[in-house]
Amino acid sequence: MQNFKSINEKFFPANYQLIDGTDEIFELNLALWEYENLKKQDLIRRSAYFKSVDGIQTIHYQTCNLQNLEEIHQNSSLRTKAFFLNGKYSTGYATHSLFPYRGKFHPQVIRALLNIIGIHPGNVVLDPMSGSATLSVEANLLGIDSIAVDVSPFCCLMGKVKTFALNLDNKKLDRIIKDRKKIFEKLNKRIVPDYFIKDSKDTNRPYYEIALLAYLDAMGFARRSAKSLNILFPIVLNRYISTIKNFQSAKEKLGLKLGESQIIKGSALSLPLENDSVDGVITSPPYSFAIDYVDNDKPQLEYLGYELTKLKENMIGLNGREISEKLELYFKMLDKVLDELKRVTKKSAKIIFIVGTNDIQTKGVRLESKIKELAKIQGFKFLWEILKPIKGLQNTMKEEYILIFENAK
Ligand SMILES: C[S@@+](CC[C@H](N)C(=O)[O-])C[C@H]1O[C@@H](n2cnc3c(N)ncnc32)[C@H](O)[C@@H]1O
Repeated sequence: MQNFKSINEKFFPANYQLIDGTDEIFELNLALWEYENLKKQDLIRRSAYFKSVDGIQTIHYQTCNLQNLEEIHQNSSLRTKAFFLNGKYSTGYATHSLFPYRGKFHPQVIRALLNIIGIHPGNVVLDPMSGSATLSVEANLLGIDSIAVDVSPFCCLMGKVKTFALNLDNKKLDRIIKDRKKIFEKLNKRIVPDYFIKDSKDTNRPYYEIALLAYLDAMGFARRSAKSLNILFPIVLNRYISTIKNFQSAKEKLGLKLGESQIIKGSALSLPLENDSVDGVITSPPYSFAIDYVDNDKPQLEYLGYELTKLKENMIGLNGREISEKLELYFKMLDKVLDELKRVTKKSAKIIFIVGTNDIQTKGVRLESKIKELAKIQGFKFLWEILKPIKGLQNTMKEEYILIFENAK
């Protein structure tokens, strides 16, 4: 008798159901590691890839379901299925969708990695090149505290909004954001009050920053579409507010206890952190010169009044002229980052680098091989790697590597 078992049936018992659409090899790999490393109760509370265990729906599945009530409405199972199959569960839940930052992590992958390296509430995780702070949001959702460091002030704004919006006062949000027309006029004339830019201690400031981020988001949209900013701003702001409120209600229903985040403007080359203070790191450096993060965010950075040339000097991957010089400076900076990570992480802490294989642009130099080499020289122990395909960027990069190291100091 032939055996027609599917991969899922072979690896997971029938009472462990994966979220619909979990079908890529790297996803099945991460799901398998979650299954092998987490107890049943922990799988229900923390897992990224399971829909239900023993008929009990996981918190992640429920969060996605509850948060997208508007989209799914009237409990139409077809729409629920569409939401999960469209892959939004892996990128668009909690506050992850607030600014669609280019090159951000897949949140669901990060959730699984936190589980696999054994990070739990009471630990502190770090992303020293945090971009839109996906790690912080994901860690906080699991009740874990996090530190995000990025050299770009615009990234810090994104990080602050996305983490603050996980845990705010809905009524206060309504009150502060009520007069949208007035807010738009001020933002549009760049009459940006102190609470938007200066480091004031005003407790209303984070609420205004939500409107500021929506404005900067709408600004990007307006450049790409025929619609004007005054039409797009209220649409984007309304989307932000409904996303935030839907998450608040899902959080209350599920009784989620969130962790806290510190978002720091600083450099990964010289981290403003104590020795041996971090339990785990997940980061993705700029993929050499694949994306110019200053040019990419130019309109937003200019609006906020920042000087771009100075910023470029401190950015990893943006210095040098010829490819060989660029790469030399890139790896020199990454070596310094690894040195800093060795200093700030505890013994046996796991350090994860996610890096693309854009070897066409680097004339054959493999970023992942060089990072492994540098890490080895620094004394990190290489534990494992997973290859993950990148969709939609096939001409530049087909895949990225998830590299897992241990601080063996
Ligand atoms: C690939 S992106 C990170 C995206 C992030 N993982 C996310 O989910 O949004 C790389 C980030 O490195 C930051 N960066 C570049 N040079 C840096 C430096 N010297 N110190 C800290 N961050 C830096 C860039 O501003 C950019 O946000």
